[in-house]
Amino acid sequence: MELTLTPNYQALAYLVSAFLFIFALKGLTHPATARRGNLFGMLGMVIAIAATLDGEEVQDYWLIGIAMTIGAVIGIRVARQIQMTAMPQLVAALHSFVGMAAVLVALGTFLNHRAADELDGLLMGELSAGVVIGAITFTGSVIAFAKLQGIMSGAPIKFIGQHALNAAIAVLTILLAFKFGTTGAIWALLLMTLLAFVLGGTLIIPIGGADMPVVISMLNSYSGWAAAATGFTLQNNLLIIVGALVGFSGAILSFIMCRAMNRSIINVVFGGFGTSGDSGGSAGATAAQQGVKSASVEDAVYWMEDAGKVIIVPGYGMAVAQAQHALKEMMEQLNARGVEVKFAIHPVAGRMPGHMNVLLAEADIPYDQVLEMDEVNSEFQSTDVALVVGANDVVNPAAKEDKSSPIYGMPILEAGKARQVYFLKRSMRPGYSGVDNLLFYQENTSLIFGDAKDTIEGIVGALKGTGH
Ligand code: TAP
Repeated sequence: MELTLTPNYQALAYLVSAFLFIFALKGLTHPATARRGNLFGMLGMVIAIAATLDGEEVQDYWLIGIAMTIGAVIGIRVARQIQMTAMPQLVAALHSFVGMAAVLVALGTFLNHRAADELDGLLMGELSAGVVIGAITFTGSVIAFAKLQGIMSGAPIKFIGQHALNAAIAVLTILLAFKFGTTGAIWALLLMTLLAFVLGGTLIIPIGGADMPVVISMLNSYSGWAAAATGFTLQNNLLIIVGALVGFSGAILSFIMCRAMNRSIINVVFGGFGTSGDSGGSAGATAAQQGVKSASVEDAVYWMEDAGKVIIVPGYGMAVAQAQHALKEMMEQLNARGVEVKFAIHPVAGRMPGHMNVLLAEADIPYDQVLEMDEVNSEFQSTDVALVVGANDVVNPAAKEDKSSPIYGMPILEAGKARQVYFLKRSMRPGYSGVDNLLFYQENTSLIFGDAKDTIEGIVGALKGTGH
């Protein structure tokens, strides 16, 4: 029996990479282990690339080297410059690359195999899956990017017969895939690819900009399946494994987000819910007319400096205001006075998974003071002050009390159970869901109007002024 060393080394390296990717996913499930998870992922990718480059199918290193260098330079630049608030659109842009890569690999493989007269039904089935999923992922991700970046309107774009058109394109694409699979006709492959590009766009344009995080996670899942299809085409086991990991984790994440918003994936894809975040509502001046108490920085300081426990509920507005560093300072000031300070994180606070955790970690807020919803909800009733910093929907009791509310059934942080609740926001405008917040009108609630960072800095200044 002939011993072929290289492929076996490659298989072993791929196996090690696959384990590292699984450890990476495991690490990314908690902020405390996320860095380690990232390192595992990077190491896995380095091993995967090295093992692939070492494979006998690679004949020319020049083009690969040039492409990798250009990619690395752009990647490092973008990673250094990107703002946390722009992360969703960056992820969307990256998914579009995966989609396009799947399309190009499939087309290239087709041409190679046709030239060598090695086309068979199974291969053409894989190629069809690769181009269709890849093309849908590409244009879908480009539209998601454009909506989030403000290049096109975030509002759902709808027209009569939209669903019928999508269904017609999908059916035609499947018929073309069948034609291609049975005859190998290149026109069928190209037309199928073109229609899938169109379908990616028409599927995503009716979805509101604010629903994009769920859509991006869905596209993430598609990009995984596109990679897996490419893995079958290239007979690359690692690509199949990684594609399946990405495909499943994207699907699970979409499911978790939908569950935390109490919505179905069908409702997200066809609902046209949440257009651009801030919808309607009136300004702070009318708060008194609406029966809402407004308070000053001094009121909040008065309550907090002698409190036993303060729970901070951060939301999307904290990200907008970039108030996390000021919050860290406030936490230190309160801790110095013996006040226990905790952060309560709702699974869909902000606009992307882990949004709040990342910002609080950036400000070096210790992980053990950052609690998930299930851990912290029982603590609100023994809390003196709940400080709601740019959050809104995630503490709205309408989710529990008002059956007619669009957010009814969504689990919430029970901030209203604290002795005193302060909301830090700029106006009476509602949050992402566009729903008025019943907690504003509760006896123990006051609103401090203004940018969250300015308000927190005001609190820090006042705490320093009263010094201990
Ligand atoms: P929201 O309910 O959207 O409320 C954010 C609040 O921040 C707004 O009421 C806004 O009020 C305030 N705000 C904005 N800029 C501010 C600033 N500079 N200073 C102070 N306040 C500011 O946020 P949330 O409570 O974090 O809830 C998240 C929502 O997004 C949920 O409905 C969730 O379902 C949805 N969503 C989340 C995700 C993920 S994965 N996180 C994905 C899709 C959808 P003013 O305008 O009056 O200041």
